Amino acid sequence: MTAEDSIQNKLSHIAIIMDGNGRWAKKRGLPRSAGHKKGAEVVQEITRAAGELGVKYLTLYAFSTENWQRSPEEVSTLMGLLREYLHNDIKELQEKGVRILFIGERQMLDSDIVEQMYKIEDETKDNANLTLCIALSYGSRQEIVATAKKIATLFRRGDIELEDIDIKMFSDMLYTKDIPDPDILIRTSGECRISNYLLWQIAYSELFFTPTLWPDFTKAELVKIIEEYKTRERRYGKV
Ligand code: IPE
Ligand code: IPE
Ligand code: MG
Repeated sequence: MTAEDSIQNKLSHIAIIMDGNGRWAKKRGLPRSAGHKKGAEVVQEITRAAGELGVKYLTLYAFSTENWQRSPEEVSTLMGLLREYLHNDIKELQEKGVRILFIGERQMLDSDIVEQMYKIEDETKDNANLTLCIALSYGSRQEIVATAKKIATLFRRGDIELEDIDIKMFSDMLYTKDIPDPDILIRTSGECRISNYLLWQIAYSELFFTPTLWPDFTKAELVKIIEEYKTRERRYGKV
């Protein structure tokens, strides 16, 4: 790949691990819930920014399967904010032509939330400007195991042969089947780990770790990351 090619790195999908809400609040002597509230505002700002920057897919890690282990108070705060988001913030996105998808284990969520999620997916399914994918009660290992079980079931029923199982088939059966792999993965808050996010899908994503806490993350920083991404050389194992 020449330097010129790498400057033209295509950018269609950005995935973000939105971390640091609790520390943002603690630094200000506020309860963790205040950090989550500010974090939810930044979700809306960054979604808008992604649309304006011409990004086609934005996948946001909102709540992991492991986050269910937090205190009942914190889980309840987060679910309350989620309800507000689903009822209020989504409207603006809908008007802007954003398609909204959810990935994760829906059976863990309250039924009113799940109903709202299906409704939003259905109402926005023909929108074409930006696809916002929200990872909610999401765990990547769980997703991979669920996919392995689906494939095993097809095999046992005799619907597929062993030879039919390949990378494409596996990808097409993940929660993310409708979206391409991320070009960029960003994690805020200085932690340099993946925390069970999109393990299969980020095989060749470019990784960015920023010390900025999620509630302080801005469009300007997103633009800086995109600029740096354009200078990276994606080799995919070739020379
Ligand atoms: C990210 O912020 C939001 C969720 C995981 C739901 P945290 O709540 O993890 O904030 P820190 O990492 O404790 O600062
Ligand atoms: C990852 O953040 C999950 C989300 C951002 C939703 P965590 O704060 O839960 O991850 P760990 O515990 O630091 O690995
Ligand atoms: Mg965290």
